[in-house]
Order: sequence, then structure tokens, then C-alpha cells
Amino acid sequence: MRKKIVAGNWKMNKTQEEALILASEVVNMVKDEVSTDVTVVIGSPYLYLSTLQKHVEPVSNMGVAAQNCHQKASGAYTGEISAPMLKSIGIGYVILGHSERRQYFGETNEQLAEKVNIALENGLTPIFCCGESLDQRNAAGYLELVASQLTESLFHLSAEEFGKVVIAYEPIWAIGTGVTASSAQAQEMHAFLRQHIAAKYGETVADDTSILYGGSCNEKNAPELFACADIDGGLIGGASLKSREFVNIAKSF
Ligand code: PGA
Repeated sequence: MRKKIVAGNWKMNKTQEEALILASEVVNMVKDEVSTDVTVVIGSPYLYLSTLQKHVEPVSNMGVAAQNCHQKASGAYTGEISAPMLKSIGIGYVILGHSERRQYFGETNEQLAEKVNIALENGLTPIFCCGESLDQRNAAGYLELVASQLTESLFHLSAEEFGKVVIAYEPIWAIGTGVTASSAQAQEMHAFLRQHIAAKYGETVADDTSILYGGSCNEKNAPELFACADIDGGLIGGASLKSREFVNIAKSF
């Protein structure tokens, strides 16, 4: 059965002190309030990963995510962080292909295929982001366009490898804008992606793949989104910076 996951993406926010306070609040609330069949992941800036990992480790249904990693294992790449480094401090997840990385740092589907490979080789669970811009949504073929992001970055994987990937559908027009995809719009895409996965890897693998929704997801709209048949949780940006709201989202299933 596929996992229910709520992952926070803090992006480039929070000083160390703020990060520790936020994480402690989330950890305490998750322990007390969130069902253990929901996995709660905190996606923090690199700087705090090691500390946060130690903090969440005792909680069986929590994990920590990096927001990126380099596609090479090591070498002369000043300023970069590799998947083996993340593994060495016990990190379990890495967000890959976020639209902000694609847009501001020029990440391509081909590069992301390499990042997915090295993440899996190092035992990290990739949270692979895909999604269309507003112009792309208004043109014909937006479903196929998002499906092609999966094809180009993930479909070289074996079924066993693919089974370790979490997908996050994030329409770019809904990220940080306050405009959420309606549950019907999100469900349409999630169902399409699941069929696309089934066509490549079969029904069982597709059924077992967690597909998260991201884009202005908050405590108000999460219950309706998460009630959709093919939506298995959320990748949460702005609302993950507030402990109470983030944990309420994790309680929305
Ligand atoms: P948002 O961001 O929830 O602030 O829209 C989501 C994301 O970028 O992952």
C-alpha cells in the first residue's frame, strides 16, 4: 500500500535558532497528534540537516529532507553538496527538481535523471517534483507535458528503483501564489500520472507510488485535496513554516 506523506519545504528560510524552535514544535505535535501511518518530513536548508536529523530520529514516522543534491558523488564543485554527504549524516529524503531549481538554477530533466540515480545509490528517497507553468496549462497537452518530465527523469529506472521514488505534482502557477489547484484539477493530473506510471511499470508499482500535491496547500484546503483518490499527501512550502498549520495539514487525511 502506498504511503501517506506530508513533506515541508522550508526553502531558504529560518535562522538556526528559528529552525530549531520550529522543528521542536513540529516533532512534539507529531508525536502527540499525528497518526503513525502518516509520514511527516521536514525539508530544511543544508546547514541544519544534521541537527534536525538527530532530533527527528526517535520519531518513527518522521524524516528529514535536503532540498537538492549534486549529481556527482564528489569533486571540484565549489559550494555543492553530494548525496553521499547527505547519507553520511543519516538523511533519508531529498527533494529533486523543484520548479525553483529548474527555473533559477537551470536544472534539466537530464540532470535530474542523474540526481535521482545518485540519490537512490545512496539510499535516499527522492521526492521528485514535476509541474507545468500557467502558459503551459493554458496550452493543449499540459497533462502529457508533466508526464514527459517523469519519462525523461525517471523512466530509465528499474521497477524496483522506481518504487523508491515519491512524486510531487506542483503546478508552478500555484506555488507561493495563494492560488491552489482545485481538487478536481489536482486529481486529474494525479490520475493521469498514475496511469502513465502504470503503462511503464504496471498497475502494482503505480498503485504503490505516493503522489503528493504541492502549491498553496494549507490547513483549509488539505482535507479536500487529500480526500482525492490519487492524492497521497502534500509538499508544503509557506504553510510548513508555521508548526501548528503544518501539523494540522498532516492530520488532514
Ligand atoms: P507553497 O510552496 O506551499 O508555498 O505554494 C510549495 C512548494 O514550493 O513546494
